[in-house]
Amino acid sequence: MDNSKIKRYTVTAALPYTNGPVHIGHLAGVYIPADIYARYLRSNKRDVKFICGSDENGVPITLKAKREGITPQEVVDKYHKIIGDSFKEFGVSFDIYHRTSSQTHHQTASDFFKKLYDKGVFTEEITEQYYDPTAKQFLADRYITGTCPKCGNENAYGDQCENCGSTLNATDLINPKSTLSGDKPILKETKNWFLPLDQYEERLRTYIESHKEWRPNVYGQCQSWLNAGLQPRAMTRDLDWGVRVPLRDAEGKVLYVWFDAPIGYISATKELCNYAKLDVWNPKAEEYYINNYESDKCGWEEYWKSDETKLVHFIGKDNIVFHCIIFPAMLMAHGEYTLADNVPANEFLNLEGQKISTSKNWAVWLNEYLREFEGKQDVLRYVLTATAPETKDNDFTWKDFQARNNNELVAILGNFVNRVVVLTHKYFNGVIPTCMEITAVDQAVIDELADYPGKIAASIENYRFREALAEVMNVARLGNKYLAETEPWKLIKTDEDRVRTILHLSLQIAANVQILIEPFLPFTAEKLMKMLQNGGHDWDDAGSVSLLKRGHQIGEGVLLFEKIEDAEIDFQIEKLNQSKASNAAGSVVATPAKENINFDDFSAMDIRVATIVAAEKVEKTKKLLKLTVNTGIDERTVVSGIAEYYKPEDIVGKQVSMIVNLAPREIKGILSQGMILMAENSEGKLTFVAPVEKFQEGSIIK
Ligand code: 2FM
Ligand code: ZN
Repeated sequence: MDNSKIKRYTVTAALPYTNGPVHIGHLAGVYIPADIYARYLRSNKRDVKFICGSDENGVPITLKAKREGITPQEVVDKYHKIIGDSFKEFGVSFDIYHRTSSQTHHQTASDFFKKLYDKGVFTEEITEQYYDPTAKQFLADRYITGTCPKCGNENAYGDQCENCGSTLNATDLINPKSTLSGDKPILKETKNWFLPLDQYEERLRTYIESHKEWRPNVYGQCQSWLNAGLQPRAMTRDLDWGVRVPLRDAEGKVLYVWFDAPIGYISATKELCNYAKLDVWNPKAEEYYINNYESDKCGWEEYWKSDETKLVHFIGKDNIVFHCIIFPAMLMAHGEYTLADNVPANEFLNLEGQKISTSKNWAVWLNEYLREFEGKQDVLRYVLTATAPETKDNDFTWKDFQARNNNELVAILGNFVNRVVVLTHKYFNGVIPTCMEITAVDQAVIDELADYPGKIAASIENYRFREALAEVMNVARLGNKYLAETEPWKLIKTDEDRVRTILHLSLQIAANVQILIEPFLPFTAEKLMKMLQNGGHDWDDAGSVSLLKRGHQIGEGVLLFEKIEDAEIDFQIEKLNQSKASNAAGSVVATPAKENINFDDFSAMDIRVATIVAAEKVEKTKKLLKLTVNTGIDERTVVSGIAEYYKPEDIVGKQVSMIVNLAPREIKGILSQGMILMAENSEGKLTFVAPVEKFQEGSIIK
């Protein structure tokens, strides 16, 4: 975009799903780079709105609610707060952190959909979807499990097999099962509204091809989607959580979460501008909305509908298609909006060589980091920027974190600032000395310093934040080199005037660092500001050696960074090792809890201690054993699928736990009267669950 045309910036950061806390992968992938960019723009006195919020609709939320046994509203309220607090504590400077469960959002998304509907953009299609007759609802892909047709994993989801990584359709699964009732779902016809992406293909191609400057990973992914040919995509879903479809014949349907989520950026801007407090679609009254717009404090439309606005979306690579293809197609269909000028998507950050995984607890959670490294937000901001996965996946390791803190932040940046401040206090009582005669050495430093702000700005404006940060560190390196070359501590006895000049210039370098580091390490910039008593500067002032006036009194010196000891790092590594160990042992960490049951459901189960008195293989089967069991109440037969793990002769006499009031079932022609409880690890291995000491048969397990 032609820079001279830009009047304002709308910077968005992907709305995180509120189904869990955020981790370093989120911070490195999206929120830190977006924050650097927004802070840099503000430092340049540009008009910027930095927008984010919680993505509170869709299946990820209802699934989490089911797992935790709470309502979707309780899930989003809980994580909206946890995530919002983490961002705040890490200094991510959103102008608003909104949420898509808000009334403003529901109204805005509903409005947007209706506009497209009225323009005749959507096609209506009847498709067959899985339906759970017991739960009386259609099943989102994640609500269906079954056997993966590619690898045979029996617990594949309707959209993906986590064992072999294949993308699946729910109808591909062998023996599909509803996770709601456990029953086999049936296919049932349903109507949904589709966005005919194929009709936007040429316009999208023109749009993408006008942005060859985008990162190769983003541009390349867009090209491959376009080359594969776009298909119409459903923009509504049969689900009961989300933004209701604002049409009369759409009972029980909500907007597809990827339709409403990016509109969340727009509704957040409206909220920021105090624009709309509207009533949501009321199907009973059959009203679309009640027009009671409030005052528009900052003119939200300027940030979305003007070609003088530069719109930039910061996202992770898994969001590229939604931001570069689907959302632009929606905006084109609407007709009033401008399209993103850039979508700087990052690749993924791995942790200690492995993919970050929430379910395996292989992550560094921000709320835990804040507890364990109190006050060290900037250390993480630094490391995550210095190793940002801008062009390829990258690895975070605790050893590297320690090394970068100790060898770069402490040894280069902290050391430079500390020396300058200490020497100024020592020799001149903390008063900025006068600059006397400038030597060739001084001039070279002054010239080099003057080049940095432009160089760093160019890197930031081209979304190369690693490179930009490395250059800021070079400013501190320049300061250290200057002190090492001029050795003011050796000259103080013989040439005080020379020392005045050296410290004067060194203090100016420190003041430059303060301005240039602010977008990256805002807490450090704040400390520097207090130390140097140097407020009110912005990017334009950087590069100058007259930021601090002679005679100005600086503040007390504080250490910017402290060494991180091996013990702290070992503790973190040990924590990860524990996750690894419990995953290997097949701990429940990997398996989410089932839906809550009430106490009566539990009491209805009659579980007893029993002893196996006889065992034999069931003919023509590989897995089954026929057991005769003394339950204390009676002696009965149970068929159990444990033959791969136990030989009949080894288990006679063993005590087990058994459900004795399970309705009898016939298995391979044998009436099985109860069920033996088994523990199963992640490899599917089974082992008996028994009392730890021998107990009388018939004892109740409760
Ligand atoms: O991938 C995610 O976490 C999504 N919640 C991102 C949404 S970005 C936007 F469209 F709101
Ligand atoms: Zn598979």
